[in-house]
Amino acid sequence: MSQLETKRLVLHPYTAKDLDAAVALYGDPKVTQFTKLGRLSRAQSRAVLDEHLRHWREKGFGMRAMVLKSSGDFAGECGFFTLESSGEAALRYALLPPYWGQGLTSEAVLATIEDAFGSLGLQRIVSVVEGPNHASHRIMEKLGLRVERTARVPKTTIFIYAITLNEWVAAARQN
Ligand SMILES: CC(C)(COP(=O)(O)OP(=O)(O)OC[C@H]1O[C@@H](n2cnc3c(N)ncnc32)[C@H](O)[C@@H]1OP(=O)(O)O)[C@@H](O)C(=O)NCCC(=O)NCCS
Repeated sequence: MSQLETKRLVLHPYTAKDLDAAVALYGDPKVTQFTKLGRLSRAQSRAVLDEHLRHWREKGFGMRAMVLKSSGDFAGECGFFTLESSGEAALRYALLPPYWGQGLTSEAVLATIEDAFGSLGLQRIVSVVEGPNHASHRIMEKLGLRVERTARVPKTTIFIYAITLNEWVAAARQN
């Protein structure tokens, strides 16, 4: 299973050993402020982690833990899940609040997209961002994803961003 590296991060596929890290991330009220379920209990976090492990086994890609090279500490997660409604590969990322605002997620998402369109051979990826999640909108815009559709869900609007392999390659040629 593939580990990725960036300047400041190691991104390794989640394993069962990451349960405490997942509990810290999914139990944080700031991290879960835009999610439907909000803060998760230890049992709920374990179920989510199990789902990530199943995704890796069945599809050969999925969510990775973000670990800081400088300290070896867990900082967050970045990777893919599959959208139930459409079967599309969807980006997901979250960072523990002390690490926000340092460009770490942008760094992780860039490496994740490069891997998806490179080694994994995906043709298209999407990302679902809730209306008020401004930092997440900014990350998608910076990396060149465009809003493809929106949908009303209870209490908010979600924005579905997308980018194809061809669009990614064309943008890289321009830079
Ligand atoms: C969203 C999240 C992952 C961002 O992590 P991060 O490492 O701080 O993000 P980065 O530093 O790489 O980039 C954030 C960008 O958003 C911008 N930003 C941050 N807060 C913002 C706000 N309130 N309004 C507008 N832009 C904002 C930053 O300035 C930065 O853009 P820049 O590089 O042009 O300056 C983090 O806030 C988080 O974990 N949130 C909770 C989980 C979550 O919402 N996940 C996404 C689900 S779609």
